[in-house]
Amino acid sequence: MKILIFNTPEEAAARVAAQITTTVQQNPEARLGLATGGTMPPVYCHLVQAHERGEVSFARAVSFNLDEYVGLAPTHPCSYHSFMQAELFGQTDFAPQNTHLPHGDAPDPTAESLRYEALIADQGGVDLQLLGIGPNGHIGFNEPSSSLASRTRVKTLTQATLQANRPYFDHGEKPPQYAITMGIGTILEARAVVLLATGAGKAQVVAEMIEGPLSAACPASSLQMHPQVTVVLDQAAAAALKHRAYYHTVHPEGREDAA
Ligand code: GLP
Repeated sequence: MKILIFNTPEEAAARVAAQITTTVQQNPEARLGLATGGTMPPVYCHLVQAHERGEVSFARAVSFNLDEYVGLAPTHPCSYHSFMQAELFGQTDFAPQNTHLPHGDAPDPTAESLRYEALIADQGGVDLQLLGIGPNGHIGFNEPSSSLASRTRVKTLTQATLQANRPYFDHGEKPPQYAITMGIGTILEARAVVLLATGAGKAQVVAEMIEGPLSAACPASSLQMHPQVTVVLDQAAAAALKHRAYYHTVHPEGREDAA
């Protein structure tokens, strides 16, 4: 794992956005795996700005989001479709037919999961997968105990995840209890992965992911098995890492020119 620790969350988000931009500049038809959650808007803001400056076009890029809530139509304001439209797709030149998310309102969510998994494979897989991490170590919506070989499927969300996502729903409206998510096996097939975690609330789980045992108890620890992972952190999210000094030696303040 390449572990980059930046002084601020802003610098960390900029580093992640730069990797996405470079990927698309090098291959305008790149297939991007995209993520939602409160950590991601600063990344998408950088992509929008790079697009506005004329540095990158997403017109031929293809995207696959990690997950979507079961029962929410794409037009629902709390759906991940709506999140992506507001934060990225609606502000850049992504072609609507090239942006993919699971359909949360599909009549048969299991059949929809199989369709989504097959679609990713048909399009040649994901070149760069962007990830956040849940406070319980989930990636996508792969909750603790998810098989490390899992494929896209319906998952029941934990109470902790429902609680964490409640602020994104209107007062009185409960977050759905189920989601369709890419599996851990699906995610691990991406050619490269970049995971962003910021803030003190992620410090413990980041340490488990990087330095803990490979275990379904912390789904993000599965990334230890992937040969091309970059973990991008701010100081607060890196605070519980035992080998922090070593990571700083290899990449001082997140710089990649030293090694
Ligand atoms: C959600 C998403 C995950 C995301 C996680 C962390 O549950 N399904 O993909 O990584 O939240 O979110 P946040 O960035 O808000 O902490």
